[in-house]
Amino acid sequence: MATLDTQRLELYLPPRAAGGGLDQDEEWCEVELDGERRRILLHDYAAIFNVPGLYEQVFAETLECDSPLIVGQLLGAELNAADVDPASLKALDFGAGNGMVGEQLAAVGIDSLIGLDLLTEARDAALRDRPGLYEEYYAGDVTDLDPDDRRELEAHDCNAMTCVAALGFGDIPPAAFAAAFNLVASPGWVAFNLRDRFIDDADPAGFGAFIGRMLEEDVLEEQARVSYTHRVSVAGEPLEYHAIVARKRADVPLDWM
Ligand SMILES: C[S@@+](CC[C@H](N)C(=O)[O-])C[C@H]1O[C@@H](n2cnc3c(N)ncnc32)[C@H](O)[C@@H]1O
Repeated sequence: MATLDTQRLELYLPPRAAGGGLDQDEEWCEVELDGERRRILLHDYAAIFNVPGLYEQVFAETLECDSPLIVGQLLGAELNAADVDPASLKALDFGAGNGMVGEQLAAVGIDSLIGLDLLTEARDAALRDRPGLYEEYYAGDVTDLDPDDRRELEAHDCNAMTCVAALGFGDIPPAAFAAAFNLVASPGWVAFNLRDRFIDDADPAGFGAFIGRMLEEDVLEEQARVSYTHRVSVAGEPLEYHAIVARKRADVPLDWM
């Protein structure tokens, strides 16, 4: 659930019937800002993060997104089952957005957190809304990082990675997932979620095939998987996802990319 204490925003979603024709990356909302109603695509994260509380109000409250909680708790439960102290982990939160996942990781005892996101707006929002949650938060393309940022990221020696609500739909591609994954130590822990239709997709360039290969070739060892409703669409339809917790056993070989 959203924990940010901000003013309520006047929010409008497309009428449910109209929303029924929109795919996940076409959905929009309208929000009253400075007396004007502005339309924002739900995948225009930069615009959403620029308005304090909008991400929480749209996704967590209105569209009932519980993924940060579900993935955070699944990771916490697996650590507990494996008798691993959460405080022994340093987690790279990849596609960290404004920090909702970091908050859930801290709630299960993983409080050494490094944020990484493509957008400076995400970093600015996390520092604005959840100051002190991340030890460091980097903004940039992980496949083309500023050399100083890369050195610093490597020096953090993260031994866990989370990636929530950020794979597929033109967000994080497999190559970027692999680059972030390879910043994490082996053995390590990984927790992420993915829409069911991407997992089942037979496209060899897609995430389903990529994750399948990571599991088959012992790069990843799955510990737990749950199917659940990530959120509802603007038309009120459930969007089904898988949350996966796995142990990292090795880097993704560079020749896979
Ligand atoms: C729906 S938000 C999820 C944010 C956060 N993980 C959460 O669950 O609240 C998706 C995030 O992925 C980030 N993202 C998209 N493409 C990315 C990329 N190639 N590398 C890193 N982050 C990316 C976006 O900027 C955005 O912050």
